[in-house]
Amino acid sequence: MKILVTGGAGFIGANFIHWVLKNRDWEIINLDKLTYAGNLESLKSIEDDKRYEFAQGDICDTKLVNELMKKVDMVVHFAAESHVDRSILEPGVFVTTNVVGTQVLLQAALENNIKRFHHVSTDEVYGALDLNGGKFNEKTPYDPHSPYSASKASSDLLVRAYGDTYGLDFTITNCSNNYGPYQFPEKMIPLFVANAREDKALPIYGDGKYIRDWLYVDDHCEAIALVLEKGKAQETYCVGGDSEKSIIQMAETILENLGKPKSLMTHVKDRPGHDRRYAIDFSKIQNELGWKPRVTFEEGIEKTIKWNLDNAAWVQNILSGEYKKYYEKQYGGRL
Ligand code: NAD
Ligand code: TYD
Repeated sequence: MKILVTGGAGFIGANFIHWVLKNRDWEIINLDKLTYAGNLESLKSIEDDKRYEFAQGDICDTKLVNELMKKVDMVVHFAAESHVDRSILEPGVFVTTNVVGTQVLLQAALENNIKRFHHVSTDEVYGALDLNGGKFNEKTPYDPHSPYSASKASSDLLVRAYGDTYGLDFTITNCSNNYGPYQFPEKMIPLFVANAREDKALPIYGDGKYIRDWLYVDDHCEAIALVLEKGKAQETYCVGGDSEKSIIQMAETILENLGKPKSLMTHVKDRPGHDRRYAIDFSKIQNELGWKPRVTFEEGIEKTIKWNLDNAAWVQNILSGEYKKYYEKQYGGRL
Protein backbone atom coordinates (compact mmCIF):
# COMPACT_ATOMS: atom_id res chain seq x y z
CA MET A 1 0.00 0.00 0.00
CA LYS A 2 1.18 3.53 -0.75
CA ILE A 3 -0.01 6.51 1.29
CA LEU A 4 0.20 10.25 0.85
CA VAL A 5 1.12 11.83 4.18
CA THR A 6 0.57 15.59 4.30
CA GLY A 7 2.57 17.63 6.81
CA GLY A 8 5.08 14.84 7.39
CA ALA A 9 7.88 17.27 8.26
CA GLY A 10 5.97 18.50 11.31
CA PHE A 11 5.86 17.03 14.79
CA ILE A 12 3.25 14.26 14.55
CA GLY A 13 3.71 13.68 10.81
CA ALA A 14 7.44 13.01 11.22
CA ASN A 15 6.80 10.65 14.12
CA PHE A 16 4.12 8.90 12.01
CA ILE A 17 6.54 8.40 9.10
CA HIS A 18 9.19 6.91 11.43
CA TRP A 19 6.52 4.72 13.05
CA VAL A 20 5.12 3.42 9.73
CA LEU A 21 8.53 2.65 8.25
CA LYS A 22 9.31 0.64 11.41
CA ASN A 23 5.96 -1.09 11.92
CA ARG A 24 4.29 -1.48 8.51
CA ASP A 25 5.37 -2.34 4.94
CA TRP A 26 3.65 0.73 3.43
CA GLU A 27 5.28 3.19 1.06
CA ILE A 28 4.98 6.91 1.77
CA ILE A 29 4.96 10.16 -0.17
CA ASN A 30 5.35 13.10 2.21
CA LEU A 31 3.86 16.36 0.93
CA ASP A 32 4.97 19.30 3.06
CA LYS A 33 5.30 23.01 2.37
CA LEU A 34 8.07 23.36 4.95
CA THR A 35 6.53 26.31 6.78
CA TYR A 36 8.27 27.51 9.93
CA ALA A 37 7.00 24.30 11.58
CA GLY A 38 8.31 21.86 8.96
CA ASN A 39 11.78 20.46 9.51
CA LEU A 40 13.44 17.85 7.29
CA GLU A 41 16.09 17.33 9.99
CA SER A 42 13.44 15.28 11.80
CA LEU A 43 13.46 12.81 8.86
CA LYS A 44 17.20 12.73 8.17
CA SER A 45 17.64 9.13 9.35
CA ILE A 46 15.06 7.77 6.86
CA GLU A 47 15.50 10.13 3.89
CA ASP A 48 17.26 7.40 1.83
CA ASP A 49 14.71 4.69 2.62
CA LYS A 50 13.40 3.31 -0.69
CA ARG A 51 9.86 3.33 0.67
CA TYR A 52 9.98 7.07 1.32
CA GLU A 53 9.67 10.04 -1.03
CA PHE A 54 9.47 13.76 -0.26
CA ALA A 55 7.55 16.37 -2.25
CA GLN A 56 7.83 20.00 -1.19
CA GLY A 57 4.61 21.88 -1.84
CA ASP A 58 1.38 23.38 -0.61
CA ILE A 59 -1.78 21.38 0.03
CA CYS A 60 -3.65 24.31 -1.58
CA ASP A 61 -1.86 23.60 -4.90
CA THR A 62 -4.55 21.68 -6.83
CA LYS A 63 -2.26 20.60 -9.68
CA LEU A 64 0.44 19.19 -7.44
CA VAL A 65 -2.04 17.52 -5.11
CA ASN A 66 -3.75 15.81 -8.06
CA GLU A 67 -0.42 14.57 -9.45
CA LEU A 68 0.50 13.03 -6.09
CA MET A 69 -2.92 11.47 -5.47
CA LYS A 70 -2.59 9.52 -8.74
CA LYS A 71 0.33 7.64 -7.18
CA VAL A 72 -1.25 6.57 -3.87
CA ASP A 73 -4.03 4.40 -2.41
CA MET A 74 -4.79 6.33 0.78
CA VAL A 75 -4.20 9.74 2.36
CA VAL A 76 -3.29 10.62 5.94
CA HIS A 77 -3.79 14.35 6.35
CA PHE A 78 -1.73 16.06 9.07
CA ALA A 79 -0.74 19.32 7.33
CA ALA A 80 -2.08 22.29 9.24
CA GLU A 81 -1.27 25.46 11.07
CA SER A 82 -1.33 24.01 14.56
CA HIS A 83 -0.53 26.57 17.26
CA VAL A 84 -3.41 28.24 19.14
CA ASP A 85 -1.36 31.32 20.15
CA ARG A 86 -0.40 31.96 16.51
CA SER A 87 -4.01 31.57 15.43
CA ILE A 88 -4.95 34.40 17.79
CA LEU A 89 -2.31 36.66 16.22
CA GLU A 90 -2.59 35.59 12.55
CA PRO A 91 -5.89 33.76 11.93
CA GLY A 92 -5.96 34.14 8.12
CA VAL A 93 -3.41 31.45 7.28
CA PHE A 94 -5.29 28.99 9.53
CA VAL A 95 -8.34 29.33 7.29
CA THR A 96 -6.25 29.05 4.12
CA THR A 97 -4.31 25.94 5.11
CA ASN A 98 -6.69 24.15 7.45
CA VAL A 99 -9.96 24.81 5.65
CA VAL A 100 -9.16 25.61 2.01
CA GLY A 101 -6.20 23.20 1.91
CA THR A 102 -8.34 20.37 3.29
CA GLN A 103 -11.02 21.03 0.65
CA VAL A 104 -8.42 20.92 -2.13
CA LEU A 105 -7.22 17.54 -0.82
CA LEU A 106 -10.78 16.19 -0.49
CA GLN A 107 -11.66 17.17 -4.05
CA ALA A 108 -8.49 15.55 -5.39
CA ALA A 109 -9.13 12.43 -3.28
CA LEU A 110 -12.57 12.14 -4.82
CA GLU A 111 -11.36 12.68 -8.38
CA ASN A 112 -8.54 10.16 -7.99
CA ASN A 113 -10.59 7.39 -6.33
CA ILE A 114 -8.61 7.42 -3.10
CA LYS A 115 -9.62 4.35 -1.05
CA ARG A 116 -9.52 6.10 2.33
CA PHE A 117 -9.00 9.73 3.34
CA HIS A 118 -7.91 9.89 6.96
CA HIS A 119 -8.19 13.30 8.56
CA VAL A 120 -6.13 14.01 11.68
CA SER A 121 -8.02 16.36 13.96
CA THR A 122 -8.06 17.58 17.51
CA ASP A 123 -10.22 17.43 20.64
CA GLU A 124 -10.14 21.25 20.66
CA VAL A 125 -13.11 21.26 18.22
CA TYR A 126 -15.32 20.25 21.19
CA GLY A 127 -14.56 23.42 23.17
CA ALA A 128 -13.84 23.35 26.90
CA LEU A 129 -14.80 21.13 29.83
CA ASP A 130 -15.26 22.20 33.45
CA LEU A 131 -12.50 21.19 35.83
CA ASN A 132 -14.60 18.36 37.27
CA GLY A 133 -17.09 17.60 34.56
CA GLY A 134 -17.06 14.68 32.12
CA LYS A 135 -15.02 13.94 29.00
CA PHE A 136 -15.37 14.52 25.27
CA ASN A 137 -16.60 11.67 23.08
CA GLU A 138 -17.58 11.30 19.42
CA LYS A 139 -21.09 12.63 20.12
CA THR A 140 -20.01 15.83 21.89
CA PRO A 141 -21.30 18.87 19.94
CA TYR A 142 -18.69 21.07 18.29
CA ASP A 143 -18.00 24.32 20.17
CA PRO A 144 -14.57 25.62 19.11
CA HIS A 145 -13.23 28.82 20.71
CA SER A 146 -9.93 29.73 19.04
CA PRO A 147 -9.35 30.47 15.36
CA TYR A 148 -7.23 27.27 15.34
CA SER A 149 -9.96 25.03 16.72
CA ALA A 150 -12.62 26.76 14.58
CA SER A 151 -10.54 26.09 11.45
CA LYS A 152 -10.06 22.43 12.45
CA ALA A 153 -13.79 22.08 13.18
CA SER A 154 -14.54 23.53 9.73
CA SER A 155 -12.16 21.06 8.12
CA ASP A 156 -13.75 18.13 9.99
CA LEU A 157 -17.19 19.21 8.74
CA LEU A 158 -15.92 19.48 5.17
CA VAL A 159 -14.52 15.95 5.40
CA ARG A 160 -17.90 14.67 6.62
CA ALA A 161 -19.68 16.64 3.89
CA TYR A 162 -17.53 14.97 1.22
CA GLY A 163 -18.55 11.63 2.70
CA ASP A 164 -22.25 12.44 2.90
CA THR A 165 -22.51 14.28 -0.41
CA TYR A 166 -20.11 12.43 -2.71
CA GLY A 167 -19.59 9.13 -0.88
CA LEU A 168 -15.89 9.72 -0.20
CA ASP A 169 -14.52 7.03 2.12
CA PHE A 170 -13.13 8.90 5.12
CA THR A 171 -12.21 8.47 8.77
CA ILE A 172 -11.43 11.17 11.33
CA THR A 173 -9.49 10.99 14.59
CA ASN A 174 -9.95 13.73 17.20
CA CYS A 175 -6.96 13.47 19.45
CA SER A 176 -5.85 15.12 22.69
CA ASN A 177 -2.51 16.94 23.21
CA ASN A 178 0.46 14.96 21.93
CA TYR A 179 4.00 15.02 23.28
CA GLY A 180 7.24 13.36 22.24
CA PRO A 181 10.30 13.93 20.01
CA TYR A 182 10.45 16.60 17.27
CA GLN A 183 7.78 18.88 18.72
CA PHE A 184 8.29 22.51 17.69
CA PRO A 185 9.53 24.45 20.74
CA GLU A 186 6.74 27.01 20.76
CA LYS A 187 4.53 24.29 22.28
CA MET A 188 4.49 23.99 26.05
CA ILE A 189 6.64 20.94 26.83
CA PRO A 190 9.66 21.60 24.56
CA LEU A 191 9.52 25.32 25.40
CA PHE A 192 9.54 24.63 29.15
CA VAL A 193 12.41 22.13 28.82
CA ALA A 194 14.47 24.58 26.72
CA ASN A 195 13.84 27.43 29.18
CA ALA A 196 14.46 25.34 32.29
CA ARG A 197 17.72 24.03 30.82
CA GLU A 198 18.98 27.63 30.58
CA ASP A 199 17.51 28.74 33.93
CA LYS A 200 15.00 30.96 32.11
CA ALA A 201 11.44 31.60 33.32
CA LEU A 202 8.68 29.15 32.38
CA PRO A 203 5.69 31.26 31.23
CA ILE A 204 2.56 29.89 32.93
CA TYR A 205 -0.56 31.33 31.33
CA GLY A 206 -3.03 32.81 33.86
CA ASP A 207 -3.56 30.72 36.99
CA GLY A 208 -1.94 27.64 35.37
CA LYS A 209 -4.89 25.45 36.33
CA TYR A 210 -5.63 24.46 32.75
CA ILE A 211 -5.89 20.74 32.12
CA ARG A 212 -4.78 18.83 29.03
CA ASP A 213 -5.01 15.06 28.43
CA TRP A 214 -1.45 14.17 27.34
CA LEU A 215 -0.85 11.38 24.81
CA TYR A 216 2.58 10.07 23.82
CA VAL A 217 2.92 10.60 20.07
CA ASP A 218 3.73 6.94 19.20
CA ASP A 219 0.39 5.91 20.68
CA HIS A 220 -1.35 8.44 18.44
CA CYS A 221 0.55 7.04 15.41
CA GLU A 222 -0.61 3.52 16.23
CA ALA A 223 -4.21 4.71 16.62
CA ILE A 224 -4.11 6.36 13.17
CA ALA A 225 -2.64 3.22 11.56
CA LEU A 226 -5.35 1.05 13.14
CA VAL A 227 -8.13 3.39 12.02
CA LEU A 228 -6.71 3.40 8.50
CA GLU A 229 -6.59 -0.40 8.44
CA LYS A 230 -9.65 -1.39 10.41
CA GLY A 231 -11.71 1.73 11.16
CA LYS A 232 -15.19 1.91 9.68
CA ALA A 233 -15.72 4.30 6.76
CA GLN A 234 -17.43 7.62 7.60
CA GLU A 235 -16.63 7.23 11.32
CA THR A 236 -14.92 9.44 13.86
CA TYR A 237 -12.72 8.09 16.66
CA CYS A 238 -11.68 10.04 19.75
CA VAL A 239 -8.11 9.32 20.88
CA GLY A 240 -6.82 10.29 24.32
CA GLY A 241 -4.01 9.64 26.75
CA ASP A 242 -5.84 9.07 30.04
CA SER A 243 -3.30 11.47 31.56
CA GLU A 244 -4.88 14.69 32.69
CA LYS A 245 -2.34 17.22 33.98
CA SER A 246 -2.46 20.94 34.66
CA ILE A 247 0.12 23.38 33.31
CA ILE A 248 1.49 23.74 36.85
CA GLN A 249 1.87 19.96 37.24
CA MET A 250 3.66 19.79 33.88
CA ALA A 251 6.02 22.63 34.83
CA GLU A 252 6.76 21.02 38.21
CA THR A 253 7.47 17.63 36.57
CA ILE A 254 9.90 19.22 34.09
CA LEU A 255 11.65 21.33 36.74
CA GLU A 256 12.01 18.36 39.07
CA ASN A 257 13.42 16.19 36.28
CA LEU A 258 16.03 18.85 35.43
CA GLY A 259 16.78 19.62 39.09
CA LYS A 260 15.68 23.25 38.68
CA PRO A 261 13.83 25.43 41.23
CA LYS A 262 10.06 25.96 41.14
CA SER A 263 10.79 29.70 41.30
CA LEU A 264 11.33 29.54 37.50
CA MET A 265 7.56 29.22 37.11
CA THR A 266 6.32 32.69 36.17
CA HIS A 267 2.66 33.52 35.79
CA VAL A 268 2.03 35.67 32.70
CA LYS A 269 -1.00 37.20 30.99
CA ASP A 270 -3.52 34.53 30.07
CA ARG A 271 -4.31 33.34 26.54
CA PRO A 272 -7.60 34.95 25.40
CA GLY A 273 -10.43 32.38 25.27
CA HIS A 274 -8.21 29.81 27.03
CA ASP A 275 -10.04 26.46 27.24
CA ARG A 276 -10.09 25.27 30.86
CA ARG A 277 -9.91 21.53 30.37
CA TYR A 278 -9.73 18.86 27.66
CA ALA A 279 -10.23 15.15 28.36
CA ILE A 280 -11.11 12.27 26.06
CA ASP A 281 -13.28 9.22 26.49
CA PHE A 282 -11.59 6.80 24.07
CA SER A 283 -13.88 3.80 24.71
CA LYS A 284 -15.06 3.64 21.07
CA ILE A 285 -11.60 3.03 19.57
CA GLN A 286 -10.75 0.77 22.52
CA ASN A 287 -13.87 -1.40 22.09
CA GLU A 288 -13.93 -1.45 18.28
CA LEU A 289 -10.24 -1.56 17.38
CA GLY A 290 -8.57 -2.72 20.58
CA TRP A 291 -6.49 0.47 20.92
CA LYS A 292 -5.43 2.05 24.17
CA PRO A 293 -2.39 4.12 25.10
CA ARG A 294 0.64 1.92 25.81
CA VAL A 295 3.04 4.56 27.14
CA THR A 296 2.40 5.79 30.69
CA PHE A 297 2.73 9.49 31.38
CA GLU A 298 5.76 8.87 33.60
CA GLU A 299 7.58 6.94 30.85
CA GLY A 300 6.52 9.32 28.09
CA ILE A 301 7.50 12.54 29.83
CA GLU A 302 10.86 11.06 30.89
CA LYS A 303 11.60 10.06 27.26
CA THR A 304 10.42 13.41 25.92
CA ILE A 305 12.51 15.47 28.33
CA LYS A 306 15.53 13.28 27.58
CA TRP A 307 15.00 13.66 23.81
CA ASN A 308 14.81 17.44 24.16
CA LEU A 309 18.00 17.54 26.25
CA ASP A 310 19.89 15.10 23.98
CA ASN A 311 18.76 17.10 20.93
CA ALA A 312 19.30 20.54 22.39
CA ALA A 313 21.03 21.50 19.11
CA TRP A 314 17.86 20.65 17.12
CA VAL A 315 15.86 22.81 19.50
CA GLN A 316 18.37 25.67 19.71
CA ASN A 317 18.66 25.76 15.92
CA ILE A 318 14.98 26.68 15.80
CA LEU A 319 14.98 28.99 18.81
CA SER A 320 17.91 31.04 17.53
CA GLY A 321 16.78 31.28 13.87
CA GLU A 322 13.85 33.07 12.22
CA TYR A 323 11.63 31.92 15.07
CA LYS A 324 13.56 34.08 17.53
CA LYS A 325 12.50 37.26 15.71
CA TYR A 326 8.88 36.09 15.68
CA TYR A 327 8.94 35.15 19.35
CA GLU A 328 10.50 38.44 20.43
CA LYS A 329 8.02 40.46 18.36
CA GLN A 330 4.95 38.56 19.59
CA TYR A 331 5.85 37.51 23.12
CA GLY A 332 8.73 39.83 24.04
CA GLY A 333 6.69 41.72 26.62
CA ARG A 334 5.14 38.64 28.14
CA LEU A 335 7.72 37.67 30.73
P1 NAD B 1 3.09 20.96 13.23
O1 NAD B 1 2.77 22.42 13.23
O2 NAD B 1 4.24 20.47 14.02
O3 NAD B 1 3.32 20.48 11.71
C1 NAD B 1 2.52 20.90 10.66
C2 NAD B 1 3.21 20.51 9.36
O4 NAD B 1 2.36 20.90 8.27
C3 NAD B 1 4.54 21.23 9.13
O5 NAD B 1 5.52 20.32 8.66
C4 NAD B 1 4.23 22.26 8.06
O6 NAD B 1 5.34 22.57 7.22
C5 NAD B 1 3.12 21.56 7.28
N1 NAD B 1 2.24 22.51 6.58
C6 NAD B 1 1.66 23.63 7.09
N2 NAD B 1 0.96 24.26 6.14
C7 NAD B 1 1.08 23.51 5.00
C8 NAD B 1 0.57 23.64 3.68
N3 NAD B 1 -0.21 24.68 3.34
N4 NAD B 1 0.87 22.68 2.77
C9 NAD B 1 1.67 21.64 3.11
N5 NAD B 1 2.21 21.48 4.34
C10 NAD B 1 1.91 22.41 5.28
O7 NAD B 1 1.73 20.23 13.65
P2 NAD B 1 1.52 18.89 14.51
O8 NAD B 1 1.53 19.24 15.95
O9 NAD B 1 2.41 17.83 13.98
O10 NAD B 1 0.01 18.55 14.11
C11 NAD B 1 -0.28 17.75 12.97
C12 NAD B 1 -1.78 17.59 12.84
O11 NAD B 1 -2.31 16.97 14.01
C13 NAD B 1 -2.54 18.91 12.69
O12 NAD B 1 -3.58 18.72 11.75
C14 NAD B 1 -3.12 19.17 14.08
O13 NAD B 1 -4.30 19.90 14.01
C15 NAD B 1 -3.36 17.74 14.55
N6 NAD B 1 -3.31 17.54 16.01
C16 NAD B 1 -2.22 17.95 16.73
C17 NAD B 1 -2.16 17.71 18.10
C18 NAD B 1 -0.95 18.10 18.91
O14 NAD B 1 -0.96 17.95 20.13
N7 NAD B 1 0.13 18.58 18.30
C19 NAD B 1 -3.23 17.07 18.74
C20 NAD B 1 -4.33 16.67 17.97
C21 NAD B 1 -4.36 16.91 16.61
P1 TYD C 1 -0.02 24.25 23.82
O1 TYD C 1 1.20 23.38 23.87
O2 TYD C 1 0.05 25.54 23.07
O3 TYD C 1 -1.24 23.35 23.30
P2 TYD C 1 -2.82 23.68 23.22
O4 TYD C 1 -3.05 25.11 23.46
O5 TYD C 1 -3.14 23.28 21.81
O6 TYD C 1 -3.46 22.78 24.25
O7 TYD C 1 -0.45 24.61 25.30
C1 TYD C 1 -0.74 23.60 26.24
C2 TYD C 1 -1.20 24.28 27.53
O8 TYD C 1 -0.10 25.01 28.08
C3 TYD C 1 -2.30 25.31 27.31
O9 TYD C 1 -3.16 25.28 28.45
C4 TYD C 1 -1.57 26.64 27.26
C5 TYD C 1 -0.40 26.40 28.20
N1 TYD C 1 0.85 27.16 27.88
C6 TYD C 1 1.46 27.92 28.89
O10 TYD C 1 0.97 28.02 30.02
N2 TYD C 1 2.63 28.56 28.57
C7 TYD C 1 3.19 28.51 27.33
O11 TYD C 1 4.24 29.14 27.09
C8 TYD C 1 2.54 27.71 26.32
C9 TYD C 1 3.11 27.60 24.93
C10 TYD C 1 1.37 27.05 26.65
